[in-house]
Amino acid sequence: MWGKLSEKEPFSQYQLDLYAAAIMGGKKPITTTDPNKLEQEARKAMSPDSFNYVFGGAGDHASQLPSLQHLFTPDTPLLIAPIGVQPAYHADAETGVASACASLGVPFVYSTASSTGLEAVAAAADAAAPATAKAPRWFQLYWPLDEEITASLLGRARAAGCEALVVTLDGNALGFGDAVFRRKFAEKFDGDAVEDNVMVASRFWTGEVFSGHAHCWEDLATLRRLWGDGPIILKGVLSIDDALLAVRSGVDGIIVSNHGGRQLDGAVLSLEMLPEIVEAVGDKPAVLFDSGIRTGADVLKALALGAKAVLVGRPVIYGLGIAGREGARHVLAGLLADVDQSMGLAGVQTVGELNRSMLRRINYGGDIKSSL
Ligand SMILES: Cc1cc2nc3c(=O)[nH]c(=O)nc-3n(C[C@H](O)[C@H](O)[C@H](O)COP(=O)(O)O)c2cc1C
Repeated sequence: MWGKLSEKEPFSQYQLDLYAAAIMGGKKPITTTDPNKLEQEARKAMSPDSFNYVFGGAGDHASQLPSLQHLFTPDTPLLIAPIGVQPAYHADAETGVASACASLGVPFVYSTASSTGLEAVAAAADAAAPATAKAPRWFQLYWPLDEEITASLLGRARAAGCEALVVTLDGNALGFGDAVFRRKFAEKFDGDAVEDNVMVASRFWTGEVFSGHAHCWEDLATLRRLWGDGPIILKGVLSIDDALLAVRSGVDGIIVSNHGGRQLDGAVLSLEMLPEIVEAVGDKPAVLFDSGIRTGADVLKALALGAKAVLVGRPVIYGLGIAGREGARHVLAGLLADVDQSMGLAGVQTVGELNRSMLRRINYGGDIKSSL
C-alpha cells in the first residue's frame, strides 16, 4: 500500500467505491474504467478537432506504442504530464485538471503552452487540496532565446510555488500571457498589445524559439542561475549520450520520453531506452519516464526498470474531454487504484521493492495486448 485517497483510505478503495455505487445504486462510473475503451469514449464525447489533437502523433504513430514488452513474474510516484492548451478539450481546462490532481495529491506539471494563467491554476489547485496539504506542482519550460523572458517565466513559476523545473528539449510553443513578452512585443510594435495582432505576435514569438539557434548544454548554467537551487529536470532524453551529458551538466533529473510519440516520427520507444539509460546514469540524475502509460501494471513495469516516477498524459485529458474536472479525477483515481491493486497482486508492499528481476523480456508481441 503506497498511497491514500484521503487520510483514511488507500487508493485501491476507489475501486470498491465504484463497485458499491454500481451494485447498490446502479450508478456507472463517470468514464469507462477500461484504459483501452477510454480512447473510444473520448472520441465520441469530444469534438473531432479536440480529440484528434490529443490522439495524434508523428507519422504513422509507431513511436506512440508503449511497447511494454515485459511480463511480471510474480507510495508509487505518478505525475500528470505537461499538456498545453487544455481549454481545447473542456472548459474546465488547466484549473480542472490541476484541481483533480490536487485532490489526489498528484503533482501537476504546468505547461508553458497552457491557456490558463499559472497564478490562477495554482490558486485553484490549492483550494482543491486537502486542508492539511499543499497542492504539489512543477513548471514545464519551452525555453525562449530571450533571457529576460525566460527569467520572467521562471520567476512567476517560483512565486506560484512550482517545486521543480521541467525543460522540454525538443518542442516549442506559444506563450502570450507573459508580461515581459508582452512588453517586448509592445516596444517592438508601436505599443500594440499581443491581441491587436495575434499573427504578428505568433511570428515574433516563434522567431524567439525557432530562431535557428538552439540552446546548448552550456546554456544550462544560465537556467541554473535563473532558477536557483530547485530541481531542474530535462524532458525528452532518449539516448545514452544525452543522458551522460545530462549527468555532466549537473541537472537533477531526466525524463526518458518521446513526448507520447508526438514529435519525431520513428523516434525510439521510451521504454526501449529506459533500462540502458538507468544503467548509464546510476543514481543521479533521477530518471523519470513517460509515453504510453495506461495501466497500473504499466506504471509498475517502468518503476521496476528503474524509473523513479512516471508521468501520464492522454488518459487524463480524455477524462477531461469526456467529463471535465470530474472525468480527469476519475481517470487518475482509477489509475492510482490500479497501481495499488497491482502492487498487491505482484506481492510488493512498497515501490522500493520493485526491481528488474520481477520482469522477463519477451520477444513476441503478446504483451502489447495484455491490457486489451
Ligand atoms: C495534446 C498534447 C499536448 C502536449 N503538450 C505538451 C506540452 O505543452 N509540453 C510538453 O513538454 N509536452 C507536451 N505533451 C507531451 C506530454 O507531456 C507527454 O510527454 C505525453 O503525453 C506522454 O505520453 P502519453 O500521452 O502516452 O501518456 C503533450 C501531449 C499531448 C497528447
